[in-house]
Amino acid sequence: MDADRKQPEEPKVLAFCCMYCAYAAADMAGSMRLTYPPNVEIILVPCTGRVEIHHILEALENGADGVCVAGCEEGSCHFSVGNLKAKKRVAYVKTLLEELGIDPDRVEMFHISASQGPLFAKVASEMTENIRRLGILKWNKQRG
Ligand code: FES
Repeated sequence: MDADRKQPEEPKVLAFCCMYCAYAAADMAGSMRLTYPPNVEIILVPCTGRVEIHHILEALENGADGVCVAGCEEGSCHFSVGNLKAKKRVAYVKTLLEELGIDPDRVEMFHISASQGPLFAKVASEMTENIRRLGILKWNKQRG
């Protein structure tokens, strides 16, 4: 019967969100009652410049199927260039993933200001849909 049919496993998306912008935008999205998939788990960071390459890789290794880093708009980082460093790190992680045979689209950088609640909801939805399309990251499930 339908109740016995196994539902496809839902992907997990980890979002490192800067407290000054993307985190506030997520908060605004909630206040505006905008919905985005529950697949997205938000990690509050003081600046995306604090997100190191190993944080992204460890997230993927520990169960995330996709990771996004969401920081202030270019030129608006409270720590000057934290978001630019994050952008470079995300680009580098993408090259590492490619070398490992993993689709680099599993990791993305976004710039979202505090007043862009609707953009946060859109980005969270699109990222989840992309990761759903790519499927569950197999290396997570093959490890014992
Ligand atoms: Fe927001 Fe640096 S303070 S990305």
